[in-house]
This record gives sequence, C-alpha cells and structure tokens, in this order.
Amino acid sequence: MFDAEMFIENSLEEIRKTVGESRVISACSGGVDSTVATYLVHKAVGEKLVAVFIDDGLRREGEPEFVMRVLKSIGVKARLIDAKEGFFAVFKGKTDAEEKRKAFREQFYSTLGRAAEEEKITCIVQGTIKADVIETVKGIKSQHNVLSQIGINPEKYGYKILEPLRELFKPDVRKVGRQLGLPPEISERMPFPGPALSLRVLGEVTPEKIAIVRKATQIVEEETRQLGTFQNFAVLHNDRATGIKDDKRLYGNIITVRIVESEAAVTAKAAQVPYETLMKIAARITQEIPTVVRCLYDITDKPPSTIEFE
Ligand code: XMP
Repeated sequence: MFDAEMFIENSLEEIRKTVGESRVISACSGGVDSTVATYLVHKAVGEKLVAVFIDDGLRREGEPEFVMRVLKSIGVKARLIDAKEGFFAVFKGKTDAEEKRKAFREQFYSTLGRAAEEEKITCIVQGTIKADVIETVKGIKSQHNVLSQIGINPEKYGYKILEPLRELFKPDVRKVGRQLGLPPEISERMPFPGPALSLRVLGEVTPEKIAIVRKATQIVEEETRQLGTFQNFAVLHNDRATGIKDDKRLYGNIITVRIVESEAAVTAKAAQVPYETLMKIAARITQEIPTVVRCLYDITDKPPSTIEFE
C-alpha cells in the first residue's frame, strides 16, 4: 500500500539534496503531474523555485488564467510566458503525430531554456510519471517529458533534471497531491497531455483548428463533468464530410468525442455514456461551432486503440 506521507517526507529530503544551492525552474501546465511536482519542490526548497506557465496557445479555454490563479493561491510564485507565436510557427507543415510531438518538445525546451537562462537557473523539475517512462521505452509514443529515454541529453540544454514522481502511477500522484493539500480541482483533475490540443487536431496544427477543438473540448467537458470518467475530450479530424447548415450544403469539419474509463492510462475502456448525453454533445457541437457538420463517438478500447488519436 502506497504511503503518500512517507513518500513526501523522503522526496523532500532527496529534492533538497539534489538541488543544493542551485535555483530550480518548473514549467507548470496545471495538470496533476506537473502541479504536484512543482508544489513538492516548492515545499522542499521554497523561494529557490521559479515556476513558469508556458502559454503555447494549445491549452483549454481559460487555462492560463486558471493555472496562474491556482499557483498564486498555494503560494507558488509563477510567471506566464506568452509563447503562442513560436509554437504555431514550428507546427507549420507538420502532419505526422511523432513529428508534431518532436516539434512541440523542441519548442518547449528551447522556450524553457531561454527562461532558465534569463533566471540563471540550471536545474529543472519534470512531472514525469511511471506510465510516461513505460510507454516511451516500449516505443508506443515519446512522452515530451521523458528526455533520457529518447536520446536527448539534458546537458545539451544545460540542465540538471529533477523528476520526483517518476516511480509513481497516476492514482498515487493524486494521493500525494491530496496529502500535500492541493485543491481538489488539481488533485482530482482529468489527465491532459503535455502537447495539449496539438494531439487532438489530426494533421497540421493551425490557430484556426485549435480554436475549433478548444470549443468542442469545452462543450464535452461541460456535458460530462458528472460522469466521473478518466478522460473526456474532443478530436478534430483532418478530413471533411458533407452536411447541411442554414439549408445549404456544407463540406465541413468532423469531431470525434472520446470518453474513457481507466485506472492509470495503460489500458482503457470506451465509456458507456448515456445516449442523451451524447445527443446533447452532438447538438451543441454542431450548433455552436459553425464549421462542424458531424459528431462521432469512439467506442474502441485501449488496446487496440490508444487513448489519444495521435
Ligand atoms: P495514450 O494515447 O498513449 O495516452 O493511450 C495515455 C495517457 O497519456 C496521455 N498522453 C500524453 N501525455 N505527452 C503527454 O504528456 C504526450 O505526448 C502524450 N500522449 C498521450 C494521454 O492523454 C493519456 O492520459
């Protein structure tokens, strides 16, 4: 049985030892993993930690404001970095999922690297958890926060890496979050991938497509909050389908809704959501997003699918 209190005690000691006299930077996305890792390091080294929220333009509606507010409320000093333009620039012309991950990862680390340089910091916190390491090692997909496994030498970026959660699976990360006293809106938060909505726009990522999937995501989340499922989201397809809008034919966008039950994301079941909920989601998505003419529900488990489409 995992003992969160004991884990925290040991981690604080280890973090202090690793950090020594250095200062530390943590890119906090507001997800469970990176926020728990950030707060744990904050508890261990206090003012030596500088938290940053990198606004890559790929987050959910209202996310930058939400994350900055939460960090402030728990006493972590944080800076928002507006990096939207740079991220959209590197996605230009990229359609392959792993190429997009690589582009995200490189842009992420060069943005973080610049911030670290400005602050004269050489130690960075990563919210890597055990599932990230397993999937990357297996070659299923390269998680953006598993550097060593994908042949990136952190020294190339001039960092020491601190990964306090790398031995934990998600349920234990949540226990640590609760034990640390993080608000439930963080400790119980739905998992969300590091490269964010870029993985949920199939094909090339553009600001226009992100805006569509962001709105669809907001609708899915609003309509499924009560389900208690593991992950609920929307995906924008790269192809189009025929539909009717304002009595006219429209060759428009397709959105797939994916809602899964899972323990630690290693396997997952497509959730048996009440049909009325799905109908309401389809109605709202096609009414509130002018270009969407079709809404589908994914009924595949993991395996053979993965949770994300990319
Ligand atoms: P898959 O799609 O592999 O997802 O079944 C398993 C869990 O990992 C998340 N995921 C990612 N997280 N970077 C991340 O930080 C990524 O590149 C990435 N790809 C998938 C996914 O949302 C699910 O919770």
